[in-house]
Amino acid sequence: MASSTHVLCFVNNKGGSGKSTTCANVGYSLSSLGYKVLLIDGDMQLNLSLAYFDEDFVLETAKSDKNLYTAIKSQKDLSDYIFPTRYPGIDMILSSTLMSSIEYDLFTKWQREYILKNGLKNILTENKYDYILIDSPPTLGGWVMNILCASHYMITPVEASPWGLFGLANLFDFLNEIKYVTPDLQMLGVCITKADSRKSYLKQTLSALEELRHTHVFETYIKVDSAIEWSQENGRPVMDYKKSSRSAKEYLCLTKEVVERVTQ
Ligand SMILES: Nc1ncnc2c1ncn2[C@@H]1O[C@H](COP(=O)(O)OP(=O)(O)O)[C@@H](O)[C@H]1O
Ligand SMILES: [Mg+2]
Repeated sequence: MASSTHVLCFVNNKGGSGKSTTCANVGYSLSSLGYKVLLIDGDMQLNLSLAYFDEDFVLETAKSDKNLYTAIKSQKDLSDYIFPTRYPGIDMILSSTLMSSIEYDLFTKWQREYILKNGLKNILTENKYDYILIDSPPTLGGWVMNILCASHYMITPVEASPWGLFGLANLFDFLNEIKYVTPDLQMLGVCITKADSRKSYLKQTLSALEELRHTHVFETYIKVDSAIEWSQENGRPVMDYKKSSRSAKEYLCLTKEVVERVTQ
Protein backbone atom coordinates (compact mmCIF):
# COMPACT_ATOMS: atom_id res chain seq x y z
CA MET A 1 0.00 0.00 0.00
CA ALA A 2 1.33 3.44 -0.90
CA SER A 3 2.12 5.67 2.06
CA SER A 4 -0.16 8.61 2.75
CA THR A 5 2.61 10.52 4.52
CA HIS A 6 3.75 13.71 2.79
CA VAL A 7 7.46 14.48 3.08
CA LEU A 8 8.33 18.18 2.79
CA CYS A 9 11.76 19.75 2.99
CA PHE A 10 12.80 23.35 3.57
CA VAL A 11 15.77 24.16 1.36
CA ASN A 12 17.76 27.28 0.52
CA ASN A 13 21.54 27.38 0.34
CA LYS A 14 21.43 30.88 1.80
CA GLY A 15 21.75 30.86 5.59
CA GLY A 16 19.36 33.02 7.60
CA SER A 17 16.56 32.76 5.05
CA GLY A 18 14.09 31.38 7.60
CA LYS A 19 14.29 27.62 6.90
CA SER A 20 14.44 26.44 10.51
CA THR A 21 11.90 29.02 11.74
CA THR A 22 9.48 28.10 8.95
CA CYS A 23 9.95 24.34 9.41
CA ALA A 24 9.36 24.63 13.17
CA ASN A 25 6.28 26.83 12.85
CA VAL A 26 4.64 25.12 9.87
CA GLY A 27 5.12 21.89 11.85
CA TYR A 28 3.30 23.30 14.86
CA SER A 29 0.53 24.81 12.72
CA LEU A 30 0.00 21.46 10.96
CA SER A 31 -0.40 19.82 14.34
CA SER A 32 -2.88 22.52 15.42
CA LEU A 33 -4.91 21.60 12.32
CA GLY A 34 -5.04 18.01 13.55
CA TYR A 35 -2.21 16.44 11.53
CA LYS A 36 0.40 14.11 13.01
CA VAL A 37 3.86 15.53 12.37
CA LEU A 38 7.43 14.25 12.46
CA LEU A 39 10.15 16.92 12.34
CA ILE A 40 13.69 16.02 11.24
CA ASP A 41 16.55 18.36 12.06
CA GLY A 42 19.03 17.95 9.22
CA ASP A 43 21.37 20.76 10.22
CA MET A 44 24.41 20.75 12.50
CA GLN A 45 23.32 24.14 13.88
CA LEU A 46 20.58 22.29 15.82
CA ASN A 47 18.12 25.18 15.37
CA LEU A 48 15.05 23.04 14.73
CA SER A 49 15.94 20.90 17.76
CA LEU A 50 16.30 24.07 19.88
CA ALA A 51 12.92 25.33 18.66
CA TYR A 52 11.25 22.49 20.59
CA PHE A 53 13.59 21.25 23.30
CA ASP A 54 15.71 22.88 25.98
CA GLU A 55 19.36 23.40 25.25
CA ASP A 56 20.69 20.81 27.72
CA PHE A 57 18.57 18.06 26.18
CA VAL A 58 19.56 19.09 22.63
CA LEU A 59 23.28 19.06 23.46
CA GLU A 60 23.01 15.77 25.36
CA THR A 61 21.22 14.13 22.43
CA ALA A 62 23.74 15.60 19.99
CA LYS A 63 26.51 13.85 21.92
CA SER A 64 24.62 10.57 22.35
CA ASP A 65 24.04 7.99 19.62
CA LYS A 66 20.29 8.77 19.35
CA ASN A 67 20.54 11.46 16.71
CA LEU A 68 20.24 11.79 12.95
CA TYR A 69 23.98 11.74 12.39
CA THR A 70 24.43 8.31 14.00
CA ALA A 71 21.41 6.97 12.15
CA ILE A 72 22.66 8.14 8.75
CA LYS A 73 26.25 7.16 9.36
CA SER A 74 25.26 3.61 10.31
CA GLN A 75 22.38 3.46 7.79
CA LYS A 76 19.78 2.67 10.44
CA ASP A 77 15.98 2.62 10.42
CA LEU A 78 15.04 6.12 11.59
CA SER A 79 12.04 4.80 13.58
CA ASP A 80 14.45 4.11 16.42
CA TYR A 81 15.62 7.73 16.64
CA ILE A 82 12.29 9.48 17.24
CA PHE A 83 11.65 11.56 20.38
CA PRO A 84 8.26 12.88 21.46
CA THR A 85 8.13 16.67 21.91
CA ARG A 86 6.04 18.29 24.67
CA TYR A 87 3.20 18.48 22.11
CA PRO A 88 1.25 15.22 21.61
CA GLY A 89 0.96 15.46 17.80
CA ILE A 90 4.60 16.33 17.13
CA ASP A 91 7.69 14.08 17.26
CA MET A 92 11.26 14.85 16.28
CA ILE A 93 14.53 13.32 15.17
CA LEU A 94 17.20 15.61 16.58
CA SER A 95 20.49 16.55 14.97
CA SER A 96 24.12 16.56 16.05
CA THR A 97 27.01 18.96 15.55
CA LEU A 98 28.78 15.97 13.98
CA MET A 99 26.56 16.54 10.93
CA SER A 100 29.45 18.80 9.94
CA SER A 101 31.28 15.69 8.69
CA ILE A 102 28.30 13.99 7.03
CA GLU A 103 29.57 14.71 3.50
CA TYR A 104 32.73 12.78 4.30
CA ASP A 105 30.75 9.90 5.82
CA LEU A 106 28.42 9.65 2.85
CA PHE A 107 31.21 9.65 0.33
CA THR A 108 32.17 5.98 0.66
CA LYS A 109 28.61 4.62 0.76
CA TRP A 110 26.90 2.79 -2.06
CA GLN A 111 23.89 4.69 -3.47
CA ARG A 112 24.78 7.51 -1.15
CA GLU A 113 21.93 9.81 -2.28
CA TYR A 114 19.34 7.44 -0.83
CA ILE A 115 20.50 6.81 2.76
CA LEU A 116 17.90 9.13 4.29
CA LYS A 117 15.15 7.84 1.98
CA ASN A 118 15.95 4.24 2.94
CA GLY A 119 16.02 5.14 6.64
CA LEU A 120 12.51 6.59 6.37
CA LYS A 121 10.97 3.56 4.60
CA ASN A 122 9.48 1.90 7.70
CA ILE A 123 8.12 5.18 9.05
CA LEU A 124 6.38 5.80 5.72
CA THR A 125 4.99 2.26 5.55
CA GLU A 126 3.51 2.59 9.04
CA ASN A 127 1.56 5.71 7.94
CA LYS A 128 1.93 7.01 11.48
CA TYR A 129 2.47 10.60 10.33
CA ASP A 130 0.53 12.86 7.98
CA TYR A 131 3.57 15.07 7.43
CA ILE A 132 7.32 14.67 7.78
CA LEU A 133 9.13 18.04 7.66
CA ILE A 134 12.90 18.13 7.10
CA ASP A 135 15.03 21.17 7.92
CA SER A 136 18.23 21.45 5.89
CA PRO A 137 21.61 23.15 6.20
CA PRO A 138 22.60 26.19 4.12
CA THR A 139 24.59 24.11 1.61
CA LEU A 140 24.07 22.24 -1.64
CA GLY A 141 25.88 18.91 -1.55
CA GLY A 142 25.46 15.19 -1.01
CA TRP A 143 23.53 15.57 2.24
CA VAL A 144 21.02 18.05 0.80
CA MET A 145 20.70 15.67 -2.15
CA ASN A 146 19.69 12.99 0.39
CA ILE A 147 17.07 15.35 1.80
CA LEU A 148 15.74 16.13 -1.69
CA CYS A 149 15.68 12.44 -2.67
CA ALA A 150 13.68 11.59 0.46
CA SER A 151 11.12 14.38 -0.07
CA HIS A 152 7.96 14.69 -2.12
CA TYR A 153 7.86 18.48 -1.92
CA MET A 154 10.31 21.33 -1.42
CA ILE A 155 9.56 24.71 0.12
CA THR A 156 12.11 27.49 -0.26
CA PRO A 157 12.00 30.24 2.34
CA VAL A 158 13.49 33.46 0.96
CA GLU A 159 14.35 36.54 2.94
CA ALA A 160 12.96 39.70 1.39
CA SER A 161 16.38 41.36 0.94
CA PRO A 162 18.87 41.86 -1.93
CA TRP A 163 21.20 39.18 -0.60
CA GLY A 164 18.23 36.95 0.15
CA LEU A 165 17.57 36.74 -3.56
CA PHE A 166 21.18 36.44 -4.61
CA GLY A 167 22.01 32.81 -5.28
CA LEU A 168 18.44 31.63 -5.74
CA ALA A 169 19.14 30.97 -9.42
CA ASN A 170 22.02 28.68 -8.34
CA LEU A 171 19.59 26.69 -6.21
CA PHE A 172 17.27 26.14 -9.16
CA ASP A 173 20.22 25.22 -11.42
CA PHE A 174 21.32 22.65 -8.82
CA LEU A 175 17.81 21.21 -8.67
CA ASN A 176 17.77 20.94 -12.43
CA GLU A 177 21.13 19.15 -12.47
CA ILE A 178 20.08 16.53 -9.93
CA LYS A 179 16.66 15.87 -11.47
CA TYR A 180 17.72 12.35 -12.49
CA VAL A 181 17.84 11.29 -8.81
CA THR A 182 14.77 13.27 -7.71
CA PRO A 183 12.19 12.63 -10.43
CA ASP A 184 9.28 12.74 -7.94
CA LEU A 185 10.26 15.94 -6.17
CA GLN A 186 7.87 18.86 -6.65
CA MET A 187 8.64 22.50 -5.85
CA LEU A 188 5.75 23.46 -3.64
CA GLY A 189 6.67 27.12 -3.53
CA VAL A 190 8.75 30.02 -2.30
CA CYS A 191 7.79 31.52 1.01
CA ILE A 192 8.82 35.10 1.73
CA THR A 193 10.13 35.58 5.26
CA LYS A 194 11.25 38.53 7.37
CA ALA A 195 9.31 40.88 5.12
CA ASP A 196 9.02 44.48 6.20
CA SER A 197 6.00 45.98 4.46
CA ARG A 198 7.25 49.51 5.22
CA LYS A 199 10.20 48.86 2.95
CA SER A 200 9.87 49.17 -0.78
CA TYR A 201 12.32 46.29 -1.17
CA LEU A 202 9.48 43.81 -0.65
CA LYS A 203 8.03 44.87 -4.02
CA GLN A 204 11.43 44.49 -5.65
CA THR A 205 11.75 40.98 -4.16
CA LEU A 206 8.40 39.97 -5.59
CA SER A 207 9.13 41.21 -9.10
CA ALA A 208 12.57 39.56 -9.05
CA LEU A 209 10.93 36.25 -8.04
CA GLU A 210 8.48 36.52 -10.91
CA GLU A 211 11.39 36.49 -13.32
CA LEU A 212 12.73 33.19 -11.98
CA ARG A 213 11.36 29.92 -13.22
CA HIS A 214 9.81 27.39 -10.80
CA THR A 215 8.69 30.04 -8.39
CA HIS A 216 5.17 29.67 -7.17
CA VAL A 217 5.23 32.24 -4.38
CA PHE A 218 2.93 31.60 -1.41
CA GLU A 219 0.42 34.40 -0.90
CA THR A 220 1.18 34.66 2.82
CA TYR A 221 4.37 36.54 3.68
CA ILE A 222 5.94 36.13 7.08
CA LYS A 223 6.73 39.62 8.29
CA VAL A 224 9.46 40.65 10.69
CA ASP A 225 8.17 39.99 14.19
CA SER A 226 10.08 40.05 17.46
CA ALA A 227 7.72 37.36 18.83
CA ILE A 228 9.65 34.90 16.63
CA GLU A 229 12.91 35.63 18.42
CA TRP A 230 11.29 35.51 21.86
CA SER A 231 9.62 32.20 21.05
CA GLN A 232 12.99 30.77 19.98
CA GLU A 233 14.62 32.08 23.16
CA ASN A 234 11.95 30.08 25.02
CA GLY A 235 12.29 26.91 22.95
CA ARG A 236 8.70 27.05 21.69
CA PRO A 237 6.96 27.57 18.37
CA VAL A 238 5.53 31.09 18.15
CA MET A 239 1.91 29.88 18.12
CA ASP A 240 2.43 28.28 21.53
CA TYR A 241 4.54 31.16 22.87
CA LYS A 242 2.17 33.93 21.73
CA LYS A 243 -0.89 32.80 19.81
CA SER A 244 -2.07 36.38 19.25
CA SER A 245 1.20 37.43 17.53
CA ARG A 246 1.17 38.42 13.89
CA SER A 247 3.67 35.76 12.89
CA ALA A 248 1.64 33.00 14.62
CA LYS A 249 -1.35 33.98 12.47
CA GLU A 250 0.78 34.27 9.33
CA TYR A 251 2.34 30.83 9.85
CA LEU A 252 -1.12 29.33 10.25
CA CYS A 253 -2.26 30.96 6.98
CA LEU A 254 0.90 29.79 5.21
CA THR A 255 0.33 26.27 6.53
CA LYS A 256 -3.22 26.22 5.17
CA GLU A 257 -1.80 27.18 1.76
CA VAL A 258 0.75 24.36 2.08
CA VAL A 259 -1.97 21.81 2.89
CA GLU A 260 -4.05 23.02 -0.03
CA ARG A 261 -1.17 22.69 -2.49
CA VAL A 262 -0.14 19.28 -1.18
CA THR A 263 -3.62 17.86 -1.52
CA GLN A 264 -4.39 19.44 -4.88
N1 LIG B 1 9.63 36.59 10.83
C1 LIG B 1 10.76 36.81 11.52
N2 LIG B 1 10.88 37.94 12.26
C2 LIG B 1 12.02 38.18 12.94
N3 LIG B 1 13.10 37.38 12.95
C3 LIG B 1 13.04 36.24 12.23
C4 LIG B 1 11.88 35.88 11.48
N4 LIG B 1 12.11 34.70 10.86
C5 LIG B 1 13.36 34.33 11.22
N5 LIG B 1 13.92 35.23 12.04
C6 LIG B 1 15.27 35.22 12.60
O1 LIG B 1 16.18 35.18 11.51
C7 LIG B 1 17.27 34.34 11.80
C8 LIG B 1 17.43 33.30 10.69
O2 LIG B 1 16.29 32.45 10.66
P1 LIG B 1 16.46 30.87 10.51
O3 LIG B 1 15.11 30.28 10.52
O4 LIG B 1 17.45 30.36 11.51
O5 LIG B 1 17.10 30.78 9.04
P2 LIG B 1 17.87 29.55 8.34
O6 LIG B 1 17.40 28.30 8.98
O7 LIG B 1 17.49 29.64 6.89
O8 LIG B 1 19.34 29.80 8.54
C9 LIG B 1 17.01 33.73 13.16
O9 LIG B 1 17.79 34.42 14.09
C10 LIG B 1 15.55 33.97 13.42
O10 LIG B 1 15.29 34.22 14.77
MG1 LIG C 1 18.51 26.78 9.86
